[in-house]
Amino acid sequence: MSKRNKVMVTGGCGYIGSHTIVDLIQNGFDVFSVDSLINSKEEVLKGIEEITGKKIENYKIDLSVPGSWKAIADREPEIAGVIHFAALKAVGESVKFPLDYYKNNIGGLLEVLEWMKYSKIPDLIFSSSCTVYGNTNDLPVKEDAEFRPTSSPYGRTKQMGELIIQDFFAGFEGKSISLRYFNPAGAHESVLIGEAPSNPALNLVPVLTETAIGKRKSMTVFGTDYPTPDGSCVRDYIHVMDIAHAHTLALRHLLDGKQHSSFDTYNLGMEKGMSVLEVINAFERVSGIPIDFIRGERRPGDIAEIYANTRKAKDILNWMPTRSLDDILKTAWEWEKQRSKI
Ligand SMILES: NC(=O)c1ccc[n+]([C@@H]2O[C@H](COP(=O)([O-])OP(=O)(O)OC[C@H]3O[C@@H](n4cnc5c(N)ncnc54)[C@H](O)[C@@H]3O)[C@@H](O)[C@H]2O)c1
Repeated sequence: MSKRNKVMVTGGCGYIGSHTIVDLIQNGFDVFSVDSLINSKEEVLKGIEEITGKKIENYKIDLSVPGSWKAIADREPEIAGVIHFAALKAVGESVKFPLDYYKNNIGGLLEVLEWMKYSKIPDLIFSSSCTVYGNTNDLPVKEDAEFRPTSSPYGRTKQMGELIIQDFFAGFEGKSISLRYFNPAGAHESVLIGEAPSNPALNLVPVLTETAIGKRKSMTVFGTDYPTPDGSCVRDYIHVMDIAHAHTLALRHLLDGKQHSSFDTYNLGMEKGMSVLEVINAFERVSGIPIDFIRGERRPGDIAEIYANTRKAKDILNWMPTRSLDDILKTAWEWEKQRSKI
């Protein structure tokens, strides 16, 4: 491993960032976070401290503001690598407010790259998404599938983000990996941290747990006339701690000099498509709580079906997800019960 051991996690107070910080610390890294708290709260750092025994510093800055990072860059000269999670992520909202998404997600990425150039930080792990594949028919999708048109500005910020990173690293002394997540869900087994967005939850699993606990009267299944076995959308759900560990492995891979190309991509999923109705059934079984749901219209931006081929992450990064859909639903439900007590 390189002499430098400190990792900058942007969006470290958010859902996947906070779980990744736990995994990084448990694998020997020092970490700090840069998060504007636009969709999170700093309280999550207490949960991280309880789990790991380490106090994590968060610099509250908006990375999309040009030069906002300069004062911190001088205070943190020894950064080994960056894991860039900070972004807005609501597909539907991005259709309504495209400029906010381009400013935040593309503007923020450009500033992170400026920071890397300024501080000569060699390695970057980027949070990408299966949305880069658009409406592909090539399932399970592999990393070399071409980018298809994606129906949301959010998806385009991920496609553009990857292209910008490729261009940047083609002329920079460093390496980058884009991790394309399928559907991260669940919570850390301690349930001291979990998904706690400041904005209303939109992803299926937190909507399910909020319905079960009574925060929502019922939930809507968006579209039951898709060309899938039961008509609802099919996605590939993957436990957030399995996603988190992939970041540690990807960063190690770069720091150990094992990647020859300046840019590479890996899918992170379970290689298994589950329909929305199947996930609702599984949740009812795991929690013992019946879910009141409405069959609604399709939501703009959603594709019928996508699931991953993850051979590459297994072969090259030695990544092996170890948690099942039941583990995802159990930890998400325990987390909901725990945080609703507060
Ligand atoms: N959760 C998913 O389903 C999913 C799927 C695929 C990809 N991703 C990507 O993974 C990353 C993390 O997602 P998440 O689910 O943890 O989201 P999240 O909203 O919980 O975390 C993102 C964090 O970034 C912060 N942030 C946003 N813009 C910022 C800015 N300009 N400056 C500083 N901080 C900023 C937010 O306050 C938040 O804490 C995002 O890039 C997202 O697009 C998420």
